[in-house]
Amino acid sequence: MCGIVGYIGHRDAYPIVLKGLQRLEYRGYDSAGIALYNDGELKVSKTKGKVADLKAKIESENNTAGTLALGHTRWATHGVPNDVNSHPHMSNSGNLVIIHNGIIENYESLKKELKARGYTFESDTDTEVLVNLIEDVSKKENVRLGKAVQIALNQTVGAYAIAVFDKTKPNEIVVARLGSPLAIGVGEEEFFIASDASPFIEFTSNAIYLEDGEMAVVRRHKGVKVRKIKDDQLVDPYVQELQMNLEQIEKSNFDHFMLKEIYEQPSAITDTYRGRLLVNEGIIRMAGVDDNLERFLNARRIVIVACGTSWHAGLVAEYIFEDLARIPVEVEYASEFRYRNPIINSDDVVIAISQSGETADTMAAIKLAKEKGAFVFGVCNVVGSSISRETNAGAYTHAGPEIGVASTKAFTTQITVLTLIALKLAKAKGNISNTDFHMHLRELEMIPHKIEVALEANEHIKEVAFKYKDARNCLYLGRGYNFPVALEGALKLKEISYIHAEGYPAAEMKHGPIALIDENMPVVVIATRKGHYEKVVSNIQEIKSRSGKIIGIVTEGDTSVRDLADYVIEVPDTIESLTPLVTTIPLQLLSYHIAVMLGKNVDQPRNLAKSVTVE
Ligand code: G6P
Repeated sequence: MCGIVGYIGHRDAYPIVLKGLQRLEYRGYDSAGIALYNDGELKVSKTKGKVADLKAKIESENNTAGTLALGHTRWATHGVPNDVNSHPHMSNSGNLVIIHNGIIENYESLKKELKARGYTFESDTDTEVLVNLIEDVSKKENVRLGKAVQIALNQTVGAYAIAVFDKTKPNEIVVARLGSPLAIGVGEEEFFIASDASPFIEFTSNAIYLEDGEMAVVRRHKGVKVRKIKDDQLVDPYVQELQMNLEQIEKSNFDHFMLKEIYEQPSAITDTYRGRLLVNEGIIRMAGVDDNLERFLNARRIVIVACGTSWHAGLVAEYIFEDLARIPVEVEYASEFRYRNPIINSDDVVIAISQSGETADTMAAIKLAKEKGAFVFGVCNVVGSSISRETNAGAYTHAGPEIGVASTKAFTTQITVLTLIALKLAKAKGNISNTDFHMHLRELEMIPHKIEVALEANEHIKEVAFKYKDARNCLYLGRGYNFPVALEGALKLKEISYIHAEGYPAAEMKHGPIALIDENMPVVVIATRKGHYEKVVSNIQEIKSRSGKIIGIVTEGDTSVRDLADYVIEVPDTIESLTPLVTTIPLQLLSYHIAVMLGKNVDQPRNLAKSVTVE
């Protein structure tokens, strides 16, 4: 949560940092602030609200000169979102300024000690404690800023990506990370600091991703010096060439990132299987699996850990792995797994799924599984993310940057990667016939086109959205492979439209939710021809006889559900195991249009953040 940006160099820092904050707003958006240094003067502007509010404030005060700046967009953890709790925070002397993404867990005891030594605090934040601790150390020990940061961080417990500078030494910024991401963009006598590379993509394609437990002193003319926070050991930084481009992080002609990302799914899935799915050769090539095939084949079971939408992708994978590869699978919320003393053995394979690769609970679950000797495989979208580096091996989804907070293309590309793995293992274990294997490969290859066809229902879905936009509750039902899709459809609706929605296995409806059904209850039922079709049709009858409003997601040409439902939305036919990749599409569009019609902020829904780096 929270996005941090910094610049030190020869250009005007304000526009760079402001634009960077706009690009990072997906990480948090309840308040924002910028500290700008110019000619011996430090100006800190901050405000509750969006980056746009901050921009208006700063530009009305004409506070925009300077070649050194730090900016922050916040998702509140300690202290309500207001101007005072917004970052940047300053030390008592007014010399040090800091931005922070993460949580200092022992801030209360540190605050008490600092108070006893005369420090005062304006905000309720852990960050203001940290900047004063750094100041206190630098005074007591009489050391430079870099050393003071190091000593102070060694006294903290928690997670952070920080950037701090001293206005009396305006040629350097000190940064550090533990548990929250931090990238340094390296230009010619100019450096960029950010939670991810999107703020500096048009200025440089060279970046250093700090590893956990590393800090760096970034000097305007002298470059970057990286060392370990704990033992002071110098590290030779690896300068990585970025693959991201500007177009990927802009909205193009779409009204919202979410819509753009929904429409990107055909190309995103093609990118996911490119070079991996070799239909003519009849093979699936995935380095992370190939190199560790024995671990997978000898796995007693697969445990999947994830959160949110990624957890739903894990549930779909459970069906695919068990159905095709015949390996027992358990799917766990990472946040529950990490705290319940799970039984993990060295012959378990743990698959961690995460779009951002930064989710704190998923990260903690990985560490726990590794401690217990399991082999941990990551399925991440963000290249170089913390989870992709912490896992023993992995496969990227290659979906490109996902900016809309409600996850869409990450979900379908995660399912694609997991399907490839399951098929590969099924083949290696001899659990799938050659004919079946080839049929799966061919069908998977056709999915991008089938999604394009599913997207053609957009205008019709808009009509359905208009009809049900004022509902207060909504049920989503599905069976088998499409039960997790029902969960995901419900999540999409509640996330961005704030309508209460629940996903249920269609047959379970009888054990509770059926009591909620009346003429005001829209029920979205996934009733594709492959997969328990007749059973789902009976469930639809049960809803109908209680006057519920039925929206059926059906296979092209279906007539039985059409006769019963108030609306049907068609998707192309495919094999059962791949239906989630097409049935998800209308559910994404439905929630998108309802949220737009209700005037909600689709890309930045209230209280949510894209990357949840706190537990
Ligand atoms: C947040 C996001 C969700 C996402 C979940 C897990 O809640 O808003 O869209 O599914 O985190 O994130 P991850 O990056 O680990 O997939």
